[in-house]
Amino acid sequence: MRRMSTRRCRMLATLAVSATLAAFAAFASAVPATAQDPAGTVMSACTKCHNTQRICANLGAKDKAAWNTTVTRMMGKGAQVSEAEKPAVVDWLATQQPGAKPVCQ
Ligand code: HEC
Repeated sequence: MRRMSTRRCRMLATLAVSATLAAFAAFASAVPATAQDPAGTVMSACTKCHNTQRICANLGAKDKAAWNTTVTRMMGKGAQVSEAEKPAVVDWLATQQPGAKPVCQ
C-alpha cells in the first residue's frame, strides 16, 4: 500500500511538471519570436546623435507618413533600427501624444 501511494505521488508530481511545461510552452509561443519593443528602440537608437527633445517636439505634429519619412531619413544617417522593427517604431511614434513619456521627460 505504501509503495502504491508513493508511486501515485510520483505520478502526480510528473503530471504537475508536464502541466507546468505545457503551460510555459503555450506562454512562450504566444510571444512572437521577434518580440518588439518600439519604445525601447526609440530610447536607445534615436538618442545616439541628439536627445529625445527633437522627437518630443514632433509628437502629435507628425502623422504616420511623416514619421515614416523621418525614421527612414534617420536610418539613412545611421540610426540602428532594423527594417523589421521600423513599422512598429513608426506606429509607436505616430500614436504618442504630445508630451508623452518616456520621449518627453
Ligand atoms: C546618426 C545620427 C542620428 C540618429 C541615430 C538619429 N538621428 Fe534624428 N537627427 C539627426 C540629425 C543630424 C538631425 C538634424 C538635422 C536633420 O534634421 O537632418 C536630426 C533630426 C531629427 C528630427 C527633427 C527633424 C525632423 O525631421 O523632424 C527628428 C524628429 C529626429 N531626428 C528623429 C529621430 C528618430 C525618431 C530617430 C530614431 C529612429 C533618430 N532621429 C535617430 C541625427 C540622427
